[in-house]
Amino acid sequence: MLIEKRLSWTMFNRIAPTYDRANRWLSFGIDRYWRKRLVAQIPHKVGQTIVDLGTGTGDVLVALARRFRDRHLIGIDPAEDMLNLATPKVAKWGPQVQLKVGSADDIPLDACSVDALTMAFAIRNVPDVPRALQEMYRIMKPGGTACILEFSIPTNLLIKRLYLFYFRRIIPVFGGLISGDRAAYQYLNVSVEAFPYGQEFAELMKKAGFSEVTVISMTCGIASIYIGKR
Ligand SMILES: C[S@@+](CC[C@H](N)C(=O)[O-])C[C@H]1O[C@@H](n2cnc3c(N)ncnc32)[C@H](O)[C@@H]1O
Repeated sequence: MLIEKRLSWTMFNRIAPTYDRANRWLSFGIDRYWRKRLVAQIPHKVGQTIVDLGTGTGDVLVALARRFRDRHLIGIDPAEDMLNLATPKVAKWGPQVQLKVGSADDIPLDACSVDALTMAFAIRNVPDVPRALQEMYRIMKPGGTACILEFSIPTNLLIKRLYLFYFRRIIPVFGGLISGDRAAYQYLNVSVEAFPYGQEFAELMKKAGFSEVTVISMTCGIASIYIGKR
């Protein structure tokens, strides 16, 4: 791997200033729809506290704030430069939205303190994924819902070929041009291709203790949402 996972969040500090623009252009805007669907998986009657892990520049947190206006929302990420970009976006929602520096494999929250949890395009960056899933389980209240969004690999052979060509050849070039950091966008396809998806990832969630685990495949399998209950 070009960039060690242990250090991936320092890479996100480097690309933070252009992160949102690169996302919109490279995904043709579809990333917004994926995040919206992620947030829609959380039941309306959810309790008081919702956490977004690997919150980055805060797009999921803003989508959560729109849907759950009166809840306590906490965004957590190890990359402070990403959080600095989230700060003005979440400011208009007032003190109900809070940002914290922290890693998903050592979440700075008490056991059984969270009613629902989201994580978008961040789990693959965590060095110890089973430990991160155990941490998610630890902080959730019984009955709570965890919703994880991550890239996956399409099963249709033709779509898979087009997708891998786009990820391997196009994204590093254009991501590199937008951000000035080609290695970061090479890491994207290496980390996505190496990461478990579909039932394989669902099994990891079950091993961490989650029940009723379901997988929603989106956009021909390019991205998937994993939902589990504590
Ligand atoms: C591709 S960005 C996704 C950000 C945001 N969730 C979104 O949807 O735009 C990946 C994020 O994972 C964060 N990250 C890296 N290592 C992490 C870790 N160990 N725990 C939690 N987040 C991590 C990075 O700092 C970065 O903000």
